[in-house]
Amino acid sequence: MSRTVIRGGLVITAADEIHADVLIEDGTIAALAARGTGAAATWTADRTIDATGKYVIPGGVDAHTHMEMPFGGTYAADTFETGTRAAAWGGTTTIVDFAIQSKGRSLREGLDAWHAKAASNCAVDYGFHMIVSDVTEDTLKEMDLLVDEGVTSFKQFMAYPGVFYSDDGQILRAMQRAADNGGLIMMHAENGIAIDVLVEQALARGETDPRYHGEVRKALLESEATHRAIKLAQVAGAPLYVVHVSAQEAVAEISRARDEGLNVFGETCPQYLFLSTDNLAEPGFEGAKYVCSTPLRPKDHQAALWRGLRTNDLQVISTDHCPFCFSGQKEMGRGDFSKIPNGMPGVENRMDLLHQGVVDGHISRRRWIEIACATPARMFGLYPKKGTITPGADADIVIYDPAAEQVISAETHHMNVDYSAYEGKRITGRVDTVLSRGEPVITDREFTGRAGHGTYTPRSTCQYLI
Ligand code: URP
Ligand code: ZN
Ligand code: ZN
Ligand code: ZN
Repeated sequence: MSRTVIRGGLVITAADEIHADVLIEDGTIAALAARGTGAAATWTADRTIDATGKYVIPGGVDAHTHMEMPFGGTYAADTFETGTRAAAWGGTTTIVDFAIQSKGRSLREGLDAWHAKAASNCAVDYGFHMIVSDVTEDTLKEMDLLVDEGVTSFKQFMAYPGVFYSDDGQILRAMQRAADNGGLIMMHAENGIAIDVLVEQALARGETDPRYHGEVRKALLESEATHRAIKLAQVAGAPLYVVHVSAQEAVAEISRARDEGLNVFGETCPQYLFLSTDNLAEPGFEGAKYVCSTPLRPKDHQAALWRGLRTNDLQVISTDHCPFCFSGQKEMGRGDFSKIPNGMPGVENRMDLLHQGVVDGHISRRRWIEIACATPARMFGLYPKKGTITPGADADIVIYDPAAEQVISAETHHMNVDYSAYEGKRITGRVDTVLSRGEPVITDREFTGRAGHGTYTPRSTCQYLI
């Protein structure tokens, strides 16, 4: 049996902050003992980690990534190997990525293809959601099978007509099925039919720069779609999880639904908290670096997102990590913003940016862990194996130095992308050491993990329903 003891740190979970030592046996948390109590003093170990002055926190759970995602004629630049290594560097020990059903194909085919991409390549553990882009009788039956094998959440798109888009009838059918089989529908809530009209009109006026991406994808068309998705879920009697919420009007829709007692949940991402349409408007096509959907909003939306995170109108922080290099990929949209591949890098930066949110006074330390670790684990059926530090849980643990200073830069990050969306941003706090099921994957700022350590993690149904 291998035994590791972490001594001297402040253990922070969504529930508690306690000065405690942690005993790990064979990759599983065996015990916690408050400092100064007799128990911890008797523990012997093969490895002792000194966490004096540091936080001991659960490994991050990033429930929204797109490694190697095909989009707009190219592929997201991080593979499962490079992307999960970068995740580990940033203190994230579980990702839930999106397998994709192509139109005319089965869910099974899509899921098998994503398993093949990820198998033997990941540095940290991973699960899958399923993107449903073709709702048929067969697809609906397959949803039941997927739930049984641990793929318990399904993303649908009200955006991207002709690609991933589902109409209201298709959405309602999938929601009805989810209401039956315990699946959770994740919604990309933007009115894509209306957006495509505005895109065409903007391009006809010669408005081709990246900033027009933000102008045509209006906040109103996000809140309209959010409202519609909520009503459809209500009709179906299904829970609903709205992904990458960026508009304050959409937060208001989610907040209203929750006040009515509905099982409606919202996720936002660091880019919406720290970046804005000012970035999209950067000159010289630099704005392309910030093209994602839903789009960045004017700065005044940020306060509503932080407030939503504080009041639990928004429950989860994910990255929507979907990196495209500026050179050769984002550049595909020079002269036509609609051809810029949608997505931004961030899987490595989430835990740090949110810690900066703690330092800046937006959220408490426990809330940081709740929205970045515990709730995503509960929402997607991974708790308490993932997302907390408790006996019996996987020893996915980060030793976090809250006093270290760092500057985010593409020069030093580990994501396979040629720019950082946060270039030059100063952060207080940094990951020191990361354990994945007790194995050191980052040791004192060195990568000590390996491709293939990360394993597929089947999930139960949502554990967060009201
Ligand atoms: O721009 C984004 N978000 N790209 C990834 C695909 C999606 O819609 O989540
Ligand atoms: Zn989306
Ligand atoms: Zn409320
Ligand atoms: Zn996404």
